Amino acid sequence: MSSLTIAEAADHAAAAAMDQYVIVKSAIYTSGEHDPREPQSPQDGSGKLHLMGHDPRLSRMPDRPTLFDFFEHRFGPCTHMLQSARLAQMNGAGEKIVLACLLHDIATSGFIRADHGYWGAQLVEPYVDAEVAFAIRYHQVLRFYPDASVGYDYPQSYIRLFGADFRPEPYVERAYEYARNHKWYMSARLLTVNDLYAFDPNVHVELEEFTDIVGRHFRQPEEGLGFDDSPSAHMWRTINWPTRYL
Ligand SMILES: [Fe+2]
Ligand SMILES: [Fe+2]
Repeated sequence: MSSLTIAEAADHAAAAAMDQYVIVKSAIYTSGEHDPREPQSPQDGSGKLHLMGHDPRLSRMPDRPTLFDFFEHRFGPCTHMLQSARLAQMNGAGEKIVLACLLHDIATSGFIRADHGYWGAQLVEPYVDAEVAFAIRYHQVLRFYPDASVGYDYPQSYIRLFGADFRPEPYVERAYEYARNHKWYMSARLLTVNDLYAFDPNVHVELEEFTDIVGRHFRQPEEGLGFDDSPSAHMWRTINWPTRYL
């Protein structure tokens, strides 16, 4: 058999193995694609098994996944976060701010888009200094409010994305007031200053460039993220196995 034939046979085998399972997706994952009131999968005793582990459509995570494994297998293209971390370095930010920049949008790239600052902070909170989690949590709301003292303007992209009339919800306003009066305000603010898209499209940044900073400031659990019984372990497991039935 030629190598192409072998590869095709392997593909067919993988597809057939996948057909054995009902792969469940919640409304969060299908939002905008399907009416969540419509049934998504056969519950008719067709003999199919419900998926309770690794989803064969996804690249397989190691048994004890590290932060970088999530970047490589689950967080989609991470150029924006890498560029943001690099920009923070170039601007002379401290290592904690660089780490916050590197992690600030992991929720949008791997989990949930709405309220991503809060979800992202909660994901990393057990493993980083409280100041890093604070910066990630509040960057989302601070992005809506200019601060002339650091040259931060309301993003033009938000006018394009949300319209010129958009005004943040009252809870966003309250969170902004809280953050503005907090001792770590400037940490979260520095994140917004470095939260730029492709500040230089010619700069290619590798995740490995941040190995030392992550090693010093991210307390990687020995059991692997998702298996260490931390308050956010279940969230990491869900990202690892997003389609398990339970
Ligand atoms: Fe963000
Ligand atoms: Fe961002």
